[in-house]
Amino acid sequence: YGDYNQKIDYVFKVVLIGDSAVGKSQLLARFSRNEFSVESKATIGVEFQTKTLIIDNKTVKSQIWDTAGQERYRAVTSAYYRGAVGAMLVYDMTKRQSFDHMTRWLEELRGHADKNIVIMLVGNKSDLGSLRAVPTEDAQEFAQRENLFFMETSALEATNVETAFLTVLTEIY
Ligand code: GTP
Ligand code: MG
Repeated sequence: YGDYNQKIDYVFKVVLIGDSAVGKSQLLARFSRNEFSVESKATIGVEFQTKTLIIDNKTVKSQIWDTAGQERYRAVTSAYYRGAVGAMLVYDMTKRQSFDHMTRWLEELRGHADKNIVIMLVGNKSDLGSLRAVPTEDAQEFAQRENLFFMETSALEATNVETAFLTVLTEIY
């Protein structure tokens, strides 16, 4: 630490996708800066953050890309997916529709990304347990059928956020 001349062994691009307001930008804020905002604004275009980690004695720089869930704010799709080796497919566990749309997001992802991409299905907002609209089993079943990793997270409470990203990065590596 404190060594900015650190040699980078790998750079891994990971993309975040899913409907608007599921919490993609806040998952990224939590992972990259350990921050959270209740007043998060809808993303326009593309943003990214990097975080450098040590995995198995190698320095891995993760470059996490975040785009708008809203169609009208989305940037060029093919550029967004280009070079991605990991993806977080995010839904809001209190919004059934955001889970039902996972099929479409997965289709777009598989249509544009490398076939070996590591994909994590993420059910965010687990802190709102009493409002749950997607049973864990439904998501597990979908993940199993589609060969995805699966985790429920809370960007607000910082539950499983680091684990979810680390799992993807470790699997890529
Ligand atoms: P787009 O940029 O429009 O695609 O949305 P997004 O997926 O980036 O959503 P964003 O991260 O901006 O979060 C939307 C709203 O959900 C904000 O009010 C966040 O504060 C809230 N939110 C995000 N994560 C959580 C969470 O884990 N729990 C709770 N309770 N609220 C969350
Ligand atoms: Mg956003």
